[in-house]
Amino acid sequence: MTKATTPTDLTITPRDLRFGRGVRRARWWMNNDPIATAFYNALSVTFPKGEGFFIDSVRAFRAGTPSRLNAEINAFIKQEVMHTREHVAFNRHVTDQGYDVSLLDRHVDEAIALTEGKPAIARLAATMALEHFTAILAHELLAAPRHLAGAELEAAAMWRWHAIEEIEHKGVAYDTWLHATRDWPRLRRWAVKALVMLTTTRKFLSGRYLGTIELLRQDGITGLRAHLGVLHYAFVRPGMVRKVLGAWISYFLPGFHPWRHDDRKLISRAESDYAAAVLPA
Ligand SMILES: [Fe+2]
Ligand SMILES: [Fe+2]
Repeated sequence: MTKATTPTDLTITPRDLRFGRGVRRARWWMNNDPIATAFYNALSVTFPKGEGFFIDSVRAFRAGTPSRLNAEINAFIKQEVMHTREHVAFNRHVTDQGYDVSLLDRHVDEAIALTEGKPAIARLAATMALEHFTAILAHELLAAPRHLAGAELEAAAMWRWHAIEEIEHKGVAYDTWLHATRDWPRLRRWAVKALVMLTTTRKFLSGRYLGTIELLRQDGITGLRAHLGVLHYAFVRPGMVRKVLGAWISYFLPGFHPWRHDDRKLISRAESDYAAAVLPA
């Protein structure tokens, strides 16, 4: 099996776009469905702080990287900064609807606090794990139209734009890690990578799950209805979490690299879709 690497003809293009300014978004902007809306709102609330953490973690290892990786890190940072800006704007719509997101904010603060005092390489490993997570969610979001079916157009366009750029820069944290640990024995590399992925996944899933449940509680949806509704949404239909399970497992296999699976076709397809959605008719 040949060793997968980031394609040499990959370009990481920060697209400086703004979404959803000056519009009034419906409370349940996703298909008029409180569960689907809560699922994406809960995810969005975590992005500004999460992406700030990713940027810091990767930047800590920028010095001394080969020039191509150095340029990719800079493009990655530019993309993440703009994602943060757009999710801040998106989250303002969430709080404008009267949702209190303080508990969700606290979950993110607590998750980030767990990494404080840990070596910088552990923070990079957590970022690499979460970037794999975002890349496989982004892939599924663009590959299967059912996920964003019925969403308000400007909101769907924002999620597609974010997904495109997550696919584009999916190898950056990974390549930074490969460079930073180039002198490590293989087994140690794998063990740290795998262990951090397991703990990060547990924290990520439980945090987003509780966040979704909390937003639903504010809509008066509680108890079994909330829990079964969210589990059904995540695992059955449209089943985002179930659909990414295989790609999640691939992270642990020998020879894994985010670009072993070249899914750039999804980028060009989504870009033409969303150009039609954001350009004035
Ligand atoms: Fe992002
Ligand atoms: Fe990212």
